Amino acid sequence: MKKIVSITVALAFILGVTMVLAATAPDKVTLKANPKKVVEFPHKIHSDQLKCEVCHHEWDQKSEPQACLTCHKKKAGDAPKFFKAFHDRKSDRSCLGCHKKMAKDGKKGGPTKCAQCHPKK
Ligand code: HEC
Ligand code: HEC
Ligand code: HEC
Ligand code: HEC
Repeated sequence: MKKIVSITVALAFILGVTMVLAATAPDKVTLKANPKKVVEFPHKIHSDQLKCEVCHHEWDQKSEPQACLTCHKKKAGDAPKFFKAFHDRKSDRSCLGCHKKMAKDGKKGGPTKCAQCHPKK
């Protein structure tokens, strides 16, 4: 009996954690660090099919993931500059890098042209 109880508790705990995570991932995020380059990021289609830590690469997997801008500043410091976090062509973690790689591999990815993410006003 004791065993069943502890299994149930363990299960509830695991499910609880997954539910908290699912609730944490935002549906959409507006990236507006540069008011002249505001980008709407459809977070959910990404977090539904990719592991969180692909993008939230410094995440401890427990607390709320931190905004990229916390470390990636306007100018490069310990972390590459903000622009690079989103456009590094050599990294699958950047928006442009991942979309380019998917296109190259013949998979369905996201936009790869500047104007698709930054429409002219
Ligand atoms: C394709 C990349 C990508 C994936 C995969 C991803 N995220 Fe994100 N997430 C982002 C970006 C980019 C932001 C905006 C960060 C910013 O504002 O600088 C963000 C923002 C967030 C935020 C808000 C943080 C803040 O203060 O801005 C939370 C919470 C979050 N993500 C959780 C998750 C969870 C949980 C998962 C996995 C289920 C996940 N994300 C998967 C890229 C991703
Ligand atoms: C806690 C600090 C921190 C946060 C938060 C963070 N980064 Fe980074 N990032 C770094 C550091 C430090 C490096 C350089 C060393 C390395 O590659 O791990 C880096 C490197 C990168 C690179 C360079 C290429 C590569 O693959 O190594 C990209 C692209 C990148 N980050 C994207 C992001 C994105 C997108 C987010 C938000 C979803 C983010 N980072 C959040 C600290 C951070
Ligand atoms: C690790 C890979 C990866 C990264 C990083 C990534 N994406 Fe994507 N993106 C995808 C994939 C895969 C799709 C196609 C999703 C689908 O249609 O099923 C996509 C689709 C999109 C779309 C099209 C959505 C639609 O409605 O068809 C937009 C816009 C987009 N991404 C923006 C971004 C932005 C902005 C960032 C950076 C903040 C980013 N992506 C980072 C993999 C990535
Ligand atoms: C997949 C989407 C995507 C594509 C494609 C893309 N960008 Fe971006 N870009 C972003 C995101 C996300 C930001 C961050 C927006 C913010 O927070 O204001 C950004 C910001 C910028 C910024 C402001 C950087 C800063 O330090 O303030 C410039 C400049 C820029 N992009 C130029 C370009 C150019 C040039 C291209 C084509 C080579 C391009 N982008 C392609 C997503 C994209």
